[in-house]
Amino acid sequence: MTEHTEQAGRASSGDVLHVTDSRTGRSYDLPITDGAIWALDLRQIKASDEDFGLLSYDPAFLNTASCRSAITYIDGDEGILRYRGYPIEDLAVRSSFLDVAYLLLNGELPTKDESFTWEQEIAHHTYVHENIKKFIDGFHHDAHPMGILVSSLAALSTFYPEAKAISDHVRQHEQVVRLIAKVPTLAAFAYRHAMGLPYAYPDAELSYAGNFLNMMWKMTEPRFRPNPVLEHALDVLLILHADHEQNCSTSAMRVVGSSQVDPYSAAAAAAAALYGPLHGGANEQVLRMLSEIGSVDRVPAYIKRVKSGELRLMGFGHRVYKNFDPRATIIKKVADEVFEVTGRNPMLDIALELERIALADEYFITHKLYPNVDFYSGIIYQAMGFPVAMFPVLFAIGRMPGWLAQWQEGGADPEQKISRPRQIYVGEPLRRMNGPAT
Ligand code: CMC
Repeated sequence: MTEHTEQAGRASSGDVLHVTDSRTGRSYDLPITDGAIWALDLRQIKASDEDFGLLSYDPAFLNTASCRSAITYIDGDEGILRYRGYPIEDLAVRSSFLDVAYLLLNGELPTKDESFTWEQEIAHHTYVHENIKKFIDGFHHDAHPMGILVSSLAALSTFYPEAKAISDHVRQHEQVVRLIAKVPTLAAFAYRHAMGLPYAYPDAELSYAGNFLNMMWKMTEPRFRPNPVLEHALDVLLILHADHEQNCSTSAMRVVGSSQVDPYSAAAAAAAALYGPLHGGANEQVLRMLSEIGSVDRVPAYIKRVKSGELRLMGFGHRVYKNFDPRATIIKKVADEVFEVTGRNPMLDIALELERIALADEYFITHKLYPNVDFYSGIIYQAMGFPVAMFPVLFAIGRMPGWLAQWQEGGADPEQKISRPRQIYVGEPLRRMNGPAT
């Protein structure tokens, strides 16, 4: 045992990483806990007494665990995704999106009574303040709905100033319920604004997914009745997107939340992160790519451009999954059910051909590139009638419970503080300005 172990005040009963600093010849034993060393343990490794201490350099956090989490487990090599221990394959066929949200937030699936109360609670909070409509009206007619969603999520914080009491459990629960309940309303209002349609109000008699479809599509009929197959398909898609551990938007939620800002502002930051084409914006890009390819015979030429490095194949590849994305497997089954109702999306043939060629191609095999959840979700959404710009918005609705569960967990974790990474300064050394002071 070396001095740092005592300094850190942690037991060193387990494994250690033995390192020798070639600059000084000194050796250190860094305790290994849960397969990780503490980055702060590196600080004691100094070239001289004045030295700040060793940093770990990890752009894009490729190999840095930023938290301990009990919410979602992913094994990227095996293609495993579990929420609170339950495989995604089970949840997709045996649960509902709201029950999954409850599971993510509370650690257990709800009982029948708890499920009923939870659904009622969410349904009760689906309305937004009438001023939100005026706010959305201010956007240009062709504003991207994701831009409207990001802004209106942030705007919600001004309606609920009590949300600043983030350590008050009652207040915290209120905002969690409001965010899950209101995000479909904001999303549907963003769409209706773009279409020049009057806003359709929530219907508390419908399921979470059914009500969203109502707010999207209701026209002159006195009561909107969602198609049960499409309602169920949407519910499954929301489950598949509900959480994915420390991805870009969830990290944004945690990092921004660590400043102790209210959850609406943190959720707006998370939604902004999701908007990017490498994250939740990918499903939109997949459809744009399929339209650009246009026909099956043009697939090989497109693959050639991808392999030359000119383009990325959108909907392929994942930072974590390196064999297959289990969500993509489930989604293909959902696609079949949806197409039975809507008719086959002509984009599907191009997508299947892209997948067939890519999966057999040396470039994609060696780079471990497989279809991810977004490769097929967009094709389903389009068949269901959603415009392409709404795809990342749908992702955001699904991801909201995950963001909130991760935000709650981060807030309750005594090891967390305000997030504040280090940098390696590579700029100019000290420079002085000449001439008289103004
Ligand atoms: N098409 C072609 N080549 C690719 C692709 C792709 N989609 N993705 C990665 N590569 C190549 C990349 O060029 C690099 O090659 P090389 O080593 O020869 O330079 C190598 O694979 C590693 O790429 P990377 O960018 O270092 O990998 P990453 O783990 O940082 O990126 C990713 C993960 C998802 C951002 C990336 O695969 C990508 O851009 N995919 C397309 C966008 C997409 O579908 N995103 C949705 C992800 S799933 C939903 C979500 O969770 O948000």
